Amino acid sequence: MGKKGSGISSCITAKLDKITPFYVMELLEEARRMEAAGEDIAHMEIGEPDFSTPEPIKEAALKAILDNHTFYTESLGLPELREKIAEYYHREQGVDVSPKRIVITSGTSGAFSLVAAVLLGRNRCLVMSDPGYPCYRNFGLLAGASLVPIPVDERSRFQILPSMIEKLKRRPHLVMIANPSNPTGTLYEPSALRALHDSIATRKGILLVDEIYRGLTYDGEFESGVAISDDVVVVDGFSKVFAMTGWRLGWMVVPEELVRPVQKVLQNVYISAPTVSQYAALAAFDTMKDVEKMKNQYRERRAYLMSRLQDLGFQLPALPQGAFYIYAGIQRWGMDSMVFVKRALSEARVALTPGYDFGAYRAGGFIRFSYATDKARLAEGCRRLAEWLPTL
Ligand SMILES: Cc1ncc(COP(=O)(O)O)c(C=O)c1O
Repeated sequence: MGKKGSGISSCITAKLDKITPFYVMELLEEARRMEAAGEDIAHMEIGEPDFSTPEPIKEAALKAILDNHTFYTESLGLPELREKIAEYYHREQGVDVSPKRIVITSGTSGAFSLVAAVLLGRNRCLVMSDPGYPCYRNFGLLAGASLVPIPVDERSRFQILPSMIEKLKRRPHLVMIANPSNPTGTLYEPSALRALHDSIATRKGILLVDEIYRGLTYDGEFESGVAISDDVVVVDGFSKVFAMTGWRLGWMVVPEELVRPVQKVLQNVYISAPTVSQYAALAAFDTMKDVEKMKNQYRERRAYLMSRLQDLGFQLPALPQGAFYIYAGIQRWGMDSMVFVKRALSEARVALTPGYDFGAYRAGGFIRFSYATDKARLAEGCRRLAEWLPTL
């Protein structure tokens, strides 16, 4: 066994010390251990749809296997799938996007790693919100870029404002946002997104919009980054909207000048996205009725959970308009969010995500609830919290 300080551990690069783990995954593992020991846990931490993938998608996958579609595809992805995605933008957003600018990736996570390899490096600056989706900063760290987290709170509905970009001391080479957001579920209004884009373009930066939750918006108006400008990088995927997390498939729309550089990295990193998943995804856009059904259930759960959490004394600083998360303030109990979630798991058997998964700014005062769990389990989790909270 390798010892600390041995040859192997001293070979690991120092930047790995700064990569934050997903605390939610660690809590999930602890919850699974408790379950294996016979405990019943109410899961409100997992950011993964509880629905199974719609049948036509699964059938398309089975057919692909039987038809021997088991080889690599073109590196940028199946041309038919890129066409389908272009049609989707035309139908949903009224925007014509050339399929040539669409790259099929191995999950949106694969897309971030390609963008980071192409646009980030030493002397490059990555800007993201704090709180925000944790992978952005970690991909920046892996690429050796300087990180500039912008603290955001309820005053801007947890969004980056153009004035915040104007005040940056350094050129923001890449600004990564999620719309709707994880963990807050807030949505950039179209005019706000356009203004943000303009402020970034003025500083000669690139805006990347992660739209993985775009199909799961319940309030407000959504406008895709593709409608704003050809210089926006838009990342999207099948994981959340089509309940396909395990299929590891996403896509991105990139400015024309980035297609070739992205392709070169992609060919080296994973050659092509999973073939069977790509064939399966050809059927995804024909399952919009299934998506609508899932979305209606998320909408109901959101209404239920928001009202229960407010009754229980949680602060809801901004209306979650999309995704399946509620970012809730726990100031009332005067306890750090890490301690709160650990105690909630061991004492109330409710699994939650601490604010620390999303950054550092006021992270001790917030936790994230996920409603990607059926309503009966959400009700059970709230019932347990109702019993436990008064004991604090
Ligand atoms: C905002 C956001 N982007 C991207 C991802 C990763 O998705 P994928 O399964 O496509 O890698 C997640 C997953 O939780 C997410 O919340």
